[in-house]
Amino acid sequence: MTKTDQLTSPLDIQAIRADFPVLNQEAHPGKPLVFLDSAASSQKPRQVVDAMSTYLLHDHANVHRGIYALSERATDAYEAAREKVRVFINARSRREIIYTRNTTESVNLVAGSWGRANLGPGDVVVLSEMEHHSNIVPWQLLAEERGFTIRYIPVTDEGLLDLAAYETFLQQEPVKLVSVMHVSNVLGTVNPVAGMIRQAHAAGALFMIDGAQSVPHLAVDVQALDVDFLAFSGHKMAGPTGIGVLYGKRVLLEAMPPYMGGGDMIRRVTLEKSEWNDLPYKFEAGTPAIAEAIGLGAAVDYLGTLGMDNILAHEQIVVEYAMERLSEIPGLKVLGPGPDRRNGVTAFVMQDLHAHDTAQLLDMEGVAVRAGHHCAMPLHQRYCLPATTRASYYVYNTTADVDALVEAIYNARKLFGI
Ligand code: ALA
Repeated sequence: MTKTDQLTSPLDIQAIRADFPVLNQEAHPGKPLVFLDSAASSQKPRQVVDAMSTYLLHDHANVHRGIYALSERATDAYEAAREKVRVFINARSRREIIYTRNTTESVNLVAGSWGRANLGPGDVVVLSEMEHHSNIVPWQLLAEERGFTIRYIPVTDEGLLDLAAYETFLQQEPVKLVSVMHVSNVLGTVNPVAGMIRQAHAAGALFMIDGAQSVPHLAVDVQALDVDFLAFSGHKMAGPTGIGVLYGKRVLLEAMPPYMGGGDMIRRVTLEKSEWNDLPYKFEAGTPAIAEAIGLGAAVDYLGTLGMDNILAHEQIVVEYAMERLSEIPGLKVLGPGPDRRNGVTAFVMQDLHAHDTAQLLDMEGVAVRAGHHCAMPLHQRYCLPATTRASYYVYNTTADVDALVEAIYNARKLFGI
């Protein structure tokens, strides 16, 4: 914590850091851990782990099945978590909140169910060049099967979506669905989804947001946005792995066929045919990740107590500071737009130092970052880069972490004689 954080952050970051024991350790002897990889997976506060262990130690039974007190308690906790998620994103109904494993599964659910039922030759799905593989590959797989066309909104040199190209697609193509990430996991770009959704609807297309990197960091209100589908993961928002969410408008979800068959998603089964359960269970076949859903509910409570606007304000301070400090380093280039149009991440390249070597040398200093293509190979191809090094930030990071990153980069450069 530096003086700057104390003066300007609306949050008590030292108190927050105390909730995350993992942060209080040495990565290597004498090298305190500086965790800058929350875009890959965030750390979990004690409150989330406590909620999960209380459930596992005292309240576990299968949900929606047992006619006995313990199972009813487990079901109540599991469904209470769903209600917390509903409030968190301001969905109209609990029925619109489908538990999945993660963002990837949520996108695959929409592709495999809505897409398979609604897309065919002559139709167009619009994605963007900055998408994560999880919002490209499911559509490519389905396009091979169903024969529709995928168009990609180009990304400008600055790291913004080319909105003129987007408008042209909507005007000139029979677009049925637009699916775009809200915040880029490489560029940090916050895409102007509200306007893009209005444009898509005016052209008769549905809109899905990949919210993996936005829902953890800023308030996302599905009713205000009027978005049709929203996908996000628990593990990037202080919750556990193995639980994610698909939000969908009820009218769309009601009309969609099941994605996976099995127990809990049916009302009636005969040897000839089956009838589907009501929402959200129609899309939740098999015993779900009960402890993880409860953990996600606790994560939502945790973030809600801090306040999403405060989290965003704090992260803006850290990211702005990171942009400033990183730009001082000779030969280092941060990808993406300026601090006013970005959130959460700073991915960079350095002359004469490969991204993987950089990450390895930073690790020797205790600084944990990710290097590679970050599951966004087309975006890296767009910039003719094989890989980038990415530092990503969450509510527990401080400007002191940024100072440690910058110092470690200077040390790495010295080691390489640059
Ligand atoms: N999508 C995650 C990342 O960007 C895994 O690191």
